[in-house]
Amino acid sequence: MSPRDRSALRAEVEALRDEIRAHNHRYYVLDDPAIPDAAYDRLMQKLLAFEQEHPELVTPESPTQRVGAEPLAAFGTVTHEQAMLSLENAFSGEDMEAFDRRVRERLGADGEIAYCCEPKLDGAAVSLLYEEGRLVRGATRGDGETGEDITLNVRTIKSIPLRLIGDPPPRLEVRGEVYMPLADFRRLNEGQAERGEKAFVNPRNAAAGSLRQLDPKLTARRPLAFFCYSMGISAGWELPDTQADLLAALRAFGLPVNGEIRVVRGVDACRAYQADMLARRGALGYEIDGVVFKVNALAQQRTLGFVSRAPRWAIAWKFPAQEEVTVLRDVEFQVGRTGVLTPVARLEPVFVGGVTVSNATLHNMDEIGKLDARIGDTVVVRRAGDVIPQVVKVVLEQRPARTKRIELPAQCPVCGSAVERQEGEAAARCSGGLVCRAQRAEGIKHFASRRAMDIEGLGDRLVEALVERELVHDVADLFRLEAGTLAGLERMGEKSARNLVDALQRARSTQLHRFLFALGIREVGESTAKNLARHFGTLENVIAADEEALQRVPDIGGVVAGHIRAFLGEPRNLEIIRRLREAGVSWPDLEPAGALEQPLGGQTWVLTGRLEAFTREEAKERLEALGAKVAGSVSKKTHCVVAGADAGSKLEKARTLGVEVIDEAEFQRRMEDL
Ligand code: IVH
Repeated sequence: MSPRDRSALRAEVEALRDEIRAHNHRYYVLDDPAIPDAAYDRLMQKLLAFEQEHPELVTPESPTQRVGAEPLAAFGTVTHEQAMLSLENAFSGEDMEAFDRRVRERLGADGEIAYCCEPKLDGAAVSLLYEEGRLVRGATRGDGETGEDITLNVRTIKSIPLRLIGDPPPRLEVRGEVYMPLADFRRLNEGQAERGEKAFVNPRNAAAGSLRQLDPKLTARRPLAFFCYSMGISAGWELPDTQADLLAALRAFGLPVNGEIRVVRGVDACRAYQADMLARRGALGYEIDGVVFKVNALAQQRTLGFVSRAPRWAIAWKFPAQEEVTVLRDVEFQVGRTGVLTPVARLEPVFVGGVTVSNATLHNMDEIGKLDARIGDTVVVRRAGDVIPQVVKVVLEQRPARTKRIELPAQCPVCGSAVERQEGEAAARCSGGLVCRAQRAEGIKHFASRRAMDIEGLGDRLVEALVERELVHDVADLFRLEAGTLAGLERMGEKSARNLVDALQRARSTQLHRFLFALGIREVGESTAKNLARHFGTLENVIAADEEALQRVPDIGGVVAGHIRAFLGEPRNLEIIRRLREAGVSWPDLEPAGALEQPLGGQTWVLTGRLEAFTREEAKERLEALGAKVAGSVSKKTHCVVAGADAGSKLEKARTLGVEVIDEAEFQRRMEDL
């Protein structure tokens, strides 16, 4: 091949790589993909084929070269040219005020200080060194002076660019946090459970552990992501004036920067930022363990300088811990609606995640075995977001000499029926069915719940009292309750009794999908109930459907179809349904849609910008389950665009074309209505 041909070839392959890099950047950094996944895959295939044919043209920065190296025997050591510092902590508004006072005094400032407010990501700190725009080294923080060389592993993280864009300085060290998004963390743990492997305790451990794999192929399989928050060395760069501008510059080099970062003035605004982030903590999609405030002006940062290991110009206001250590005092078994026995840990009360926790779930006997938990053990409890607190670890080093093993009871603790455990299933069940008071009570609570029949004022305690006194045996009995009977109950005045009777009256008019959900058929959640209602239109049609017909409903497979048939084939259940209708429970029948017609059938939707409550993938799955096609770009044929935060060009295009645009809140409302 002539040198000219060779250079033309090189130019061609570089153009293709640039195109792929631009798509990576839009997908992983801007969260705004320009093309559908399939089109991206085709570009990658093309590049792979090209490189296979011309291996001499492969470069380390090629998008194909993220994974592939051989496992290491050990990590090398990296000496940080500039120490990686830690942060001073604040735990209260007073601590924050004291920090602000110190800053103002040192600076001799009259007015309020401008702070750059950032989420404190809960992952693992890393340093990335770029030379001539190329990623040449990745390192852990280590002890701040020396860390481990994890270059091969950071290269597998898709949101870390292998090459910077724009005009970066010749030598630039970027610092930030590698983390694992929550949805990915949950999926990873589900996979671990399926493979019979131990679950990760939390996303931070999962991220840190994944980064420290000697085999980069293992790291590549872990769903890691990255946000940068500061800079180390930078040779030959005239620095911006503020922390916020610095982050903007890093973003312009193609690096991912968190979207929740704001600049505010004064300590009151810092308090407001903290309160807002604390409130939204559970909805961010990744874990944060606090917020960080940094004096925004770099000149002021230089004046303030450092004390020992931490800067004077920054502080981490930590949220209440989500994990604490306490003692497992006892384990009791709770019986759920479907008879499943859940072991519940009774704990020495402990303050965690902002509340006092004295009960936590242990999931099932398999989990107890994996944790090797025994009564008397010291355990780690975790309370993240709104989920039920769970025991995630046993501190074996602190196991006392005498502990008690946790045994599955042979008889249901509520009704005494035999407890059964099916081969291959983690759950143990009470075989008592409707004989079991606990199962009946749980079934009634579910029936009355907001998303089911929505019987206002019929709370858990009241249901338990009604079942206990044998005033209510099953859900149909609810509609025979009279104000007189109710008023005699504990903590029930005449007024609340009358209110409940009115609520029952209102609940009689319902919708088919709510009714189906309320029945509490195993594995029939809200969305399956909606699909059933839409598909069959009437309850009679659902009852008449055999397993094959049921499986024609979107999302219903063999197992769920089996549960539905078993429930509706049981004469006692049909009798309860008959009595409910006799008591006046009714709904408007629908036109059966059949298998082909789905609510969003034939529509094309586009997602853009950053969504808070869903990952992209989840939003896409929801839409597709309803029959919509989800496209990567907006055209005249687009039916609707969902625009999250910081939406860019697609939003503009939708506006120019007059395509309907909705925000995330509206999207959620519609998903709920469908
Ligand atoms: S700044 C000199 N900003 O928190 C400044 N750190 O407790 C050093 N972290 O080791 C760090 N989010 O791993 C900074 N927005 C953020 C951060 C952050 C998380 C971590 C980082 C650091 C630790 C200090």
